[in-house]
Amino acid sequence: EKPITISKLLSMHAESEKITMLTAYDSTMSALLNRCGIDVILIGDSLGNVIQGHSSTTPVTIEQMVYHTSCVARANTASFLIADLPFASYGDPVQALDSAAELMRAGADMVKLEGGGEWQTEIIHYLVKRSVPVCAHLGLLPQSVHLLGGYHVQGKSKDAATVMREQAFACEAAGAQMLVLEAIPSSLGKQITESLSIPTIGIGAGPDCSGQVLVLPDMLGISPGKPPKFVKNFLDGSPSIESAIKTYIRSVKSGKFPSPEHCFAG
Ligand code: KIV
Ligand code: NA
Repeated sequence: EKPITISKLLSMHAESEKITMLTAYDSTMSALLNRCGIDVILIGDSLGNVIQGHSSTTPVTIEQMVYHTSCVARANTASFLIADLPFASYGDPVQALDSAAELMRAGADMVKLEGGGEWQTEIIHYLVKRSVPVCAHLGLLPQSVHLLGGYHVQGKSKDAATVMREQAFACEAAGAQMLVLEAIPSSLGKQITESLSIPTIGIGAGPDCSGQVLVLPDMLGISPGKPPKFVKNFLDGSPSIESAIKTYIRSVKSGKFPSPEHCFAG
């Protein structure tokens, strides 16, 4: 079977089929996610937390992202691969293109970057014009944790919600083909999804996004510490990791996940 392409993902979106995404950082999990039938594998810079043991994603380097992307890509035969541009690897368009090219050479089909301000949309436009497919990421931006002073739900005030809606639109206008929405009220996730033509992938952004993503060790319940509200432990009650992943996929496809307990009201 041929791997999933962006056209396949966009046609799934056109037919209102939910897009399933999980993170992976190595070839064993990449192969397992393939077997389970995941649509998209994200090589997330969350590997700073779950692989490297840092308390944020900011120490992650482009070299490390390239290494993990190549590990995942080597085993991948079926899924679409998105790799994160790590902190400070896309400070200007030229650096962004350099970094994105490294991730694509390692096997990424698309790169993801955080934020929808003027400088980010300029970079999205620059990359897409040069044939680098881009996924944008709005809401909680983990690479900005030191600026924000912690991890908080975003877009709660009327003004913040307006800014986010405008940024989402700007990302799409700049050429982004997908948009991750993290830790925002479900109502805002729904509004943004309905106002865009590209698919939105939610993590703590409500059930109305076009698809869902979780960090793999989080959804297996093996990440240390208290999980964020949007995480569900799918291994709980499942006989195996494979069965937990298949349950996640089924729950996203059917709209059963996320349920209100994993969402932010408002
Ligand atoms: O790095 C990551 O795993 C991510 C997801 C949480 C969307 O960016
Ligand atoms: Na990330």
